[in-house]
Amino acid sequence: MFAEAPAEAPQAPEAPKALLSVRDLRVTVSAGRAEAVRGVSFEVAPGEAVGLVGESGSGKTLTCRAVLGALAPGCAVSSGEIEFGGHDLNRANRREWLAIRGGRIGAVFQDPASYLNPSLPVGDQLSEVLRVKLGLGRREARERAVELLTAMGLNAPARVYGQYPHELSGGMLQRVLIAVAVSCDPELLIADEATTALDVTVQAEVLELLARLRAERGLSIVCVSHDLAVIAALCDRIVVFYGGEIVESGPTEEVLANPRHPYTEALLRVASVGDWGRRTLEVIPGQPPPAGADLPGCRFAARCALAVDACSSAPIPLGVHPDGREVRCLRAGTAGEGRPEDSSGGVRPEDAFLTDAPSTGTSSGTAGRDAVAVGAETRGVVR
Ligand SMILES: Nc1ncnc2c1ncn2[C@@H]1O[C@H](COP(=O)(O)OP(=O)(O)OP(=O)(O)O)[C@@H](O)[C@H]1O
Ligand code: SF4
Ligand SMILES: [Mg+2]
Repeated sequence: MFAEAPAEAPQAPEAPKALLSVRDLRVTVSAGRAEAVRGVSFEVAPGEAVGLVGESGSGKTLTCRAVLGALAPGCAVSSGEIEFGGHDLNRANRREWLAIRGGRIGAVFQDPASYLNPSLPVGDQLSEVLRVKLGLGRREARERAVELLTAMGLNAPARVYGQYPHELSGGMLQRVLIAVAVSCDPELLIADEATTALDVTVQAEVLELLARLRAERGLSIVCVSHDLAVIAALCDRIVVFYGGEIVESGPTEEVLANPRHPYTEALLRVASVGDWGRRTLEVIPGQPPPAGADLPGCRFAARCALAVDACSSAPIPLGVHPDGREVRCLRAGTAGEGRPEDSSGGVRPEDAFLTDAPSTGTSSGTAGRDAVAVGAETRGVVR
């Protein structure tokens, strides 16, 4: 007799495999003279919506264009990996790109009119994509195009089909562009400032459309926006860019409710998240470093109210906190201290910086405690 086989150990549920995985991406501009994206890593799971935020020039569009294999002349991926659905996009050949870009990955940008031919009816342009990409016949492509325009919530889709770009409003044009982007049933949609030029009502409608497409098609979305309300409405996770680097990432609700990086905290303060009265990212005092500037330490130090000498002496790693959130700050978790109204109490900067110190002086809130725990945790857990 054989001994009875031991009962199988219960298997831990597998984490969903990322659809898109960007690892240590570096992008140079000006023919290699400046590094504008400096070691960016993030993942997008199937069906997940991830928002990229940050001031102008922080590297969001370059990151998206690198994923799309559509960098402008003079810009190039200098190192790093971009894996999409198991394919290494850095090694994709022309034929593979044709299947991926506009096929498995769709994209929508600001200013939809500039992506459409002004001298052709929009429906013909959509049909053309379906014929080229999916090999549909003329009639089938037309029927499918009208179906897509209907699915985009356009009234009188058959009429819209025959209209020229100049005859449509900005919101209608963006819906046409989204129809083009999802026409081949992509797995990932990259929306770079796709709602920025629209008025608030139309913007809300387009956001609703994106959310519906996501729910119905299991679409993953990378959404770039200056508007934190857009990110809050659509995205599960938020990735904050500063000076070509990621400085913070985590679940949207948690990051918006409790930012840990001083830059994120400053962004939220100027954006008045909460009442959504003024929702765009206004200028935070000071300037971000120019693209390609090589600084010895934290790229935010010149503008940071919490900066101490150590911030500028060595590169700051992106630390992974025990709850999975990522923050690139020696003093992560103490961001609220920078607020003028907090200056009367809380942790003294020099105490907060002593990350190995017992959590004395932090009883008034969690920020200081986090700083202590996080400081110990993040050392060595870096990207
Ligand atoms: N084609 C280019 N040639 C030279 N520099 C470029 C080029 N494209 C981008 N850059 C520079 O790279 C940096 C990052 O640009 P990117 O367009 O990614 O910023 P962004 O975060 O998308 O900003 P915005 O919010 O204004 O769209 C900027 O400093 C920009 O000037
Ligand atoms: S590392 Fe220092 S300078 Fe940079 S954000 Fe943190 S506290 Fe500010
Ligand atoms: Mg951009």
